[in-house]
Amino acid sequence: MTTAVQLKTRELKPGFGAEILDVDLAQADADTLAGVVDTFHRHGAILLRGQDMTPAQLVEFVALFGEPEDHTQKQFTLPGHPKVFVLSNREVDGKPIGAHNDGVGWHTDYSYKAQPVMCTMLYAVEVPAEGSDTLLADGCAAWNALSPERQKELDGLRLHHSYQHFMATREFGRQELSDELKRDNPDVEHPLIRTHPADGRKALWPSTGTVTEVVGMENPKGLELVDELVAFMTSEPFVFRHKWQVGDILMWDNRCTLHTGTLYDDTKYFRTMHRLWAKGDAPY
Ligand code: SIN
Repeated sequence: MTTAVQLKTRELKPGFGAEILDVDLAQADADTLAGVVDTFHRHGAILLRGQDMTPAQLVEFVALFGEPEDHTQKQFTLPGHPKVFVLSNREVDGKPIGAHNDGVGWHTDYSYKAQPVMCTMLYAVEVPAEGSDTLLADGCAAWNALSPERQKELDGLRLHHSYQHFMATREFGRQELSDELKRDNPDVEHPLIRTHPADGRKALWPSTGTVTEVVGMENPKGLELVDELVAFMTSEPFVFRHKWQVGDILMWDNRCTLHTGTLYDDTKYFRTMHRLWAKGDAPY
């Protein structure tokens, strides 16, 4: 039986996220790992610096949070490791080894699926000396900052998400979907306000890219509302900015956050990240 160890932590931002100190994940025992999982569930995001993890160890680690999820664009997974997706601007033999600028634009991962991923983990393999920060926005803090009247207006609204629309309109990596990708990724609807299954806390849960409309509201009014809420949730009081170092592991709970990558000088620097997902459940 494991007993979660109480770990040394410091907040990433007042009231949101935790950096876990003095833990070497590759060597950690089961009780320490249970402490890491417990810290994640209490704080919405965790950071561990100075890690040295093989792809197989990363898969084993993410499996502590839930069954590792497959990736939609399979051509960018690490050879021999289908659960590890590569984000990179490197090319080998003239071919990209990963997706470049894949996560730029505020979003929540896999929102175009009926059961979006519960958490996302990024492991920094190589990072630019400047730029390429990852930003996380706290949806619970944003929800709690709204007036009761505004909360009442928003609660119950639903958003239409479309992978096909996302891939046809995104700034980077635009793509006409194959018949197979169209078939595997039909449009879905999700609530705008999401309830966390662990403790019932509510979060603003809009997204950009995949959202085509607020159900029952005409455009442009619907999309203007989504833009307004994304701008509010991603304003300074609710955002943590992570500056990467090689060996960092950053994980966040997609049920109560939005995130975005940021640009960097890709003529000067290389950036390579390994991304893993753990399966989630149907939002309500
Ligand atoms: C992502 O959105 O999955 C990646 C974000 C980043 O590259 O910083």
